Amino acid sequence: MEVIIQDTPEDCARIGASIIASTLRRKAHAVLGLATGSTPLVLYREMIRLHAAGELDFSMATSFNLDEYIGLAPDHPCSYRYFMEENLFKHINIRPERTHVPDGNAVDVDAACKAYELSIRSVGGIDIQVLGIGTDGHIAFNEPVSSLGSRTRIKTLHEDTREDNARFFDSMDEVPTHCITMGVGTIMECRQLLLFAFGKAKAEIIARAVEGPITAMVPASALQLHQDVKIILDTAAARKLEHGDYFRHVYENKPEWQRH
Ligand code: F6R
Repeated sequence: MEVIIQDTPEDCARIGASIIASTLRRKAHAVLGLATGSTPLVLYREMIRLHAAGELDFSMATSFNLDEYIGLAPDHPCSYRYFMEENLFKHINIRPERTHVPDGNAVDVDAACKAYELSIRSVGGIDIQVLGIGTDGHIAFNEPVSSLGSRTRIKTLHEDTREDNARFFDSMDEVPTHCITMGVGTIMECRQLLLFAFGKAKAEIIARAVEGPITAMVPASALQLHQDVKIILDTAAARKLEHGDYFRHVYENKPEWQRH
């Protein structure tokens, strides 16, 4: 695991966007794994800026999102499809037919989950996956005690997660109770992982995920077993790391050519 600690979310986003840009420069038809929520917004703004500056071309890229609420139509303002259209897709040149978000309105949800896994496989797997982390340690919507080998499937949302996400809805009653999510096993198969966390509310869980034991109680701790993962944190999210000074030292002493 490489832990990168920066002063602000904007600094973190610049690093993340530059890693994604070098992936796309090396492999124009790269497969990007994308996340929703508050955390990646600053990253998406930076990716849009680079695209507008002619430095990031998505014309050959494909994308897969991590998750979607069950029961929300794609044009529902709280659906993750809508979120992606508004916050990224409509501002860049990715081809709409190459963007994938699980279908929260599928009649046969199990079949839709299996088909999602197959379509990831059919394009050769995900090259680089963006992740956030929930305060309970979830990645995508893999709540505590999710199997660390799980695949795309239906999940019941934890009440804490519903409460965390209620801010996007008019009332708590409107927050869906179920979702489709890539599994921890699906995420672990991505070639490279970038997990972002900002703010002091994430400090405790980041310390547990990075420095604690690998456990299904903290699904993000599974990333300790991945061979190419960067944990990109602002100072507030990093403040409970016991080895924070060491992580800073490693990053500051990395040769420039090895940075991203
Ligand atoms: C959403 C997702 C979730 C979020 C997590 C953190 O696609 O993957 O795991 O990353 O709930 O959400 P924020 O960023 O809003 O704190």
